[in-house]
Amino acid sequence: MRGITVKKLAAGKSLQGEVKVPGDKSICHRALILGAMAHGATRIQGMTQADDVGSTWTCLREVGINIVSRCEVTTVSGRGWRGLVQPRKTLDAGNSATAMRLMMGLLASNPIAGTIGGDESLSKRPMARVAEPLRRMGAIIDMAPGDHAPVEVRGAALSGIDHVSPVSSGQVKSAILIAGVQSIGNTSVTEPSLSRDHTELMLPLFGIPVERQGLKVTVKGGLRMSPARLVVPGDISSAAFWIVAASLAPGSRVRLPSVGVNPTRTGFLAVLKRMAAAVTVQPADLGPEAGDEPAANIEARYAGLAATDIEPPEVPGLIDELPILALAASLAAGTSRFRGLGELRHKESNRLEGLAGLLRALGAKAEASGDDLVIEGVQRLTGAKVSSASDHRLAMTAMIAGLVAEGETVVDDASCVRASYPEFTRDLAKLCG
Ligand code: S3P
Repeated sequence: MRGITVKKLAAGKSLQGEVKVPGDKSICHRALILGAMAHGATRIQGMTQADDVGSTWTCLREVGINIVSRCEVTTVSGRGWRGLVQPRKTLDAGNSATAMRLMMGLLASNPIAGTIGGDESLSKRPMARVAEPLRRMGAIIDMAPGDHAPVEVRGAALSGIDHVSPVSSGQVKSAILIAGVQSIGNTSVTEPSLSRDHTELMLPLFGIPVERQGLKVTVKGGLRMSPARLVVPGDISSAAFWIVAASLAPGSRVRLPSVGVNPTRTGFLAVLKRMAAAVTVQPADLGPEAGDEPAANIEARYAGLAATDIEPPEVPGLIDELPILALAASLAAGTSRFRGLGELRHKESNRLEGLAGLLRALGAKAEASGDDLVIEGVQRLTGAKVSSASDHRLAMTAMIAGLVAEGETVVDDASCVRASYPEFTRDLAKLCG
């Protein structure tokens, strides 16, 4: 599969049923890396098959970490945070910035030299935001011109820093905290508004104390990590596509069990509530191995949507859901203004321009102006040939649009959905009967 054609749901057809979305991608990356840093076997239940997490897995194997998956349990044989071995080739982070940036934090204190590379899209993404603080901690880092990948990291003895980050980024924060665990002294990261906090919630499960004071998080360095047993909830960023699909297709009703609802990830649900979507969220208990990551059973039904605005402080909490929210806004009554979306330019594609272009190709009224996206709701969309720019979240947004747009929607590259949701087209077919 590369391109795909999606037809509008036939009259009287809707999305019905239940889908178990893949395990949360952000949590899975962290579980593998923290597992590698611990002494002994970490057991993870609910591992995603997404290519992005596969990239972290590949990189870890290259530095000597054994990982096996059997009977739905993934076991990482950790070697302690200075136990990595010298890689024989470039570590391949594929399309995943999380893999690359978190691996930079991991390699920073190991007495080895590792080069991390990625595909064409990843090689255009900014890496100085991670390299600069890691250098201040003592790591030696070389990058390609423009501060891009490939990135060579030569580990050294690290000292903790107090980093004030100009961007709210879960990846930057996590890379520094991962290096902080391997440092002498404490390491703090302060960010402009709170980004996803999975790393800080997971570290105590490996025996590392974490302290939070408002927007500042601090880890203690130099401690030995013990292995953990973890359960990963479903990925709300994947569930978001079905929640919006059910909201837009008349008569639909979709159930999504055991989805992660960490408050740093649920901004999207708050926005949909303002848009008058019919979404219910019932707490689900995944047991003690889920740690402090809350989960819920989510149900979404069709409802006429109203326009809403998104303000900059909300953006980190819904950064990956902006494409699908923009589709919802395209069919909502009134004009929506999404403000402060500059970070979208640095994703798997220039997601701000790509998203506006994709929606316009389908007959929506969407304009990117500066860092904002202004969307005037229309009555209907019309199928067209659209480009996903090989960006998984744009491809899935286009396919959901295809279910409600008149006629046929042809998405040029849909294989890219493997980055976060390899089962997407299977689940789409299941819900559409
Ligand atoms: C992620 C953080 C976000 C998000 C990405 C996953 C993470 O990126 O967009 O999909 O797992 O920490 P930034 O840290 O660049 O905002």
